[in-house]
Amino acid sequence: MKVLFNSKYKAGKELRYLQDCIENKNEQYFYNRYATQLIGLHSSDANRLLVSSCTHGLEVITRLLEFTCEDEIIVPSYAFISSAAAFTLGKSRIIFCDSRLDTATICLNHLKTIVTKKTRAVCIVNYNGYGEDLEAISKYCDSREILLIEDNAHGFGVFNKGKALGTFGFASSTSFDHQKNISCGQGGVLYLKNKFLLDDAHDISNFGANMSEFTSGRASRYSWSRLGSNYLLSEFSAAILCAQLEEFQSIQNRRKFLWLNYWKSLSTWSTETSVTLPPVGLENSYHIFWILLPSNLYAIRFIDHMKNYSVQVLPHYSALHLSSMSRKWQQLCSFECPTAERLSSTLVRLPLNNSLSAEKQNIVIEAALRFS
Ligand SMILES: Cc1ncc(COP(=O)(O)O)c(C=O)c1O
Repeated sequence: MKVLFNSKYKAGKELRYLQDCIENKNEQYFYNRYATQLIGLHSSDANRLLVSSCTHGLEVITRLLEFTCEDEIIVPSYAFISSAAAFTLGKSRIIFCDSRLDTATICLNHLKTIVTKKTRAVCIVNYNGYGEDLEAISKYCDSREILLIEDNAHGFGVFNKGKALGTFGFASSTSFDHQKNISCGQGGVLYLKNKFLLDDAHDISNFGANMSEFTSGRASRYSWSRLGSNYLLSEFSAAILCAQLEEFQSIQNRRKFLWLNYWKSLSTWSTETSVTLPPVGLENSYHIFWILLPSNLYAIRFIDHMKNYSVQVLPHYSALHLSSMSRKWQQLCSFECPTAERLSSTLVRLPLNNSLSAEKQNIVIEAALRFS
């Protein structure tokens, strides 16, 4: 039996809601409104806007910031391409920061050494929904008048000390793409601390038209008023999203069970083979279960070994400071990020998805235990 890394998942009422949508059974934007409400229920009812992807949410944030070429924004090197690429829409310089080895989140100590008078914002990634350092990072940023942005692609519905991930800083963006715990194929939600920026975000996402003025009756027709694009979530995607959000708790419970089962089953083996497992006992989203191999050679051998048992395991991000774009584009600046390089070359993700059966997870565990 083959065990794929990812698999699509039907949570419940997706088809019914899509049908309603196609047959115009509800008022306009019904599912957009319903999804926004459900998101508030499971995460935070802060100012939020459904967008077509986490990447697009980050692009909206970039357009709101209007930084100049004198400004700097710090981003972890161990991150998805969009975590940095979204900011290339603006003029600011992008500086790469190193990560922590245990949680693969940004390293606050390194961050403190690379902040300058020009630093205007820091964008962090809540890797696997780990938010242990968020309070400290947020306090540090506040003390330096630096805006904190959360790339919260992995962290929907996770709380740290009672506060929802994605609401610690100036703004955040979450992903509902095809690999996330809650998915509508492609989608996301943008959070903004400042409610007065919501109209601006809406206009940016509405092709750059003055749609807020138009819909509130302050303008008799809409026209092109600022830089923007087509960033809003479609009603079809929102319908699927609602069906998934309705099952949020059972999805999370299942993923937590699978994640902890990996941890318990592999913990003795990991000590014997010098493999490191992710930290247990910290709040997280149970989005990714990864192992850190002792070297890149081991990681390649592990991936091949698992392939022999028909199990698909995958590395994750390539360190952005080593990318060819980073060398080519002079607005990108890197310091040494040895931990990002280590994560990039030795972190391997095991299959973890909403459709993973106990039988399939056992195949993964049995195969991993045979690796030495
Ligand atoms: C940290 C991070 N940011 C952004 C994204 C992009 O999300 P989306 O596909 O919703 O644009 C991903 C994708 O997995 C990610 O891991």
